[in-house]
Amino acid sequence: MTQYANTPEAAHCVKVAAMIQETIITTQNSAGVAHIAPMGIHVEHANEIIILPFRPSTTLDNLLATQTAVINYCDDVRIFAGCLTGRRDWPLHAAEKITGQVLQNTLAHSEVELVSIEEDAVRPKLFCKIVHTVNHRPFMGFNRAQFAVLEAAILVSRLDWLSPEKIALEVEYCRIGLEKTAGERELEAWGWLMAVIAEKTLRNAHE
Ligand SMILES: Cc1cc2nc3c(=O)[nH]c(=O)nc-3n(C[C@H](O)[C@H](O)[C@H](O)COP(=O)(O)O)c2cc1C
Repeated sequence: MTQYANTPEAAHCVKVAAMIQETIITTQNSAGVAHIAPMGIHVEHANEIIILPFRPSTTLDNLLATQTAVINYCDDVRIFAGCLTGRRDWPLHAAEKITGQVLQNTLAHSEVELVSIEEDAVRPKLFCKIVHTVNHRPFMGFNRAQFAVLEAAILVSRLDWLSPEKIALEVEYCRIGLEKTAGERELEAWGWLMAVIAEKTLRNAHE
């Protein structure tokens, strides 16, 4: 991070940039229809975040329409894997300070308002201000299987760009942490992702 840029520790860093938190963003369109999507938010300062949706994106369209979103800090990795495998129907309840929807199964959430946009044809930057944050449940510690599912979900979101060899290599690495530490939620999420990867591999073999 920036404050270490000129220290000896910086020599061991591979990048000097904003921290990215993997979250679930809930938005809604002007008719009130909710949309759930995993997205990495860039944390600039305590109350400022940047959302970077790749076009085309329902999250982007909804944010432009309503100027609000909810950032869900969620350790239920089934929601990350579910959104990438056609399972987007997760329980929600109303936000407190903005018009929006909060994931029922989140540890905490922030309600944000859109402040400005840096336009880009591929990936615009949406600068948002956090107006309200609520803790719902305690964070119970890091879990390698959750990390493995997140990495596999990111692979699934890039299936059309990555080579089968790279996908296979990364899945095998992720599987180590998964097999040692997973609970039921992580195993279920992993199964959904592996089914999509297997289907894609089969399709490639027939092309
Ligand atoms: C952990 C994780 C982080 C992601 N981060 C982003 C992101 O920053 N921007 C993005 O456009 N898609 C991201 N994706 C992929 C989106 O969730 C997915 O493509 C989604 O459908 C976005 O499009 P939508 O707004 O139309 O739903 C991420 C996926 C995962 C699993």
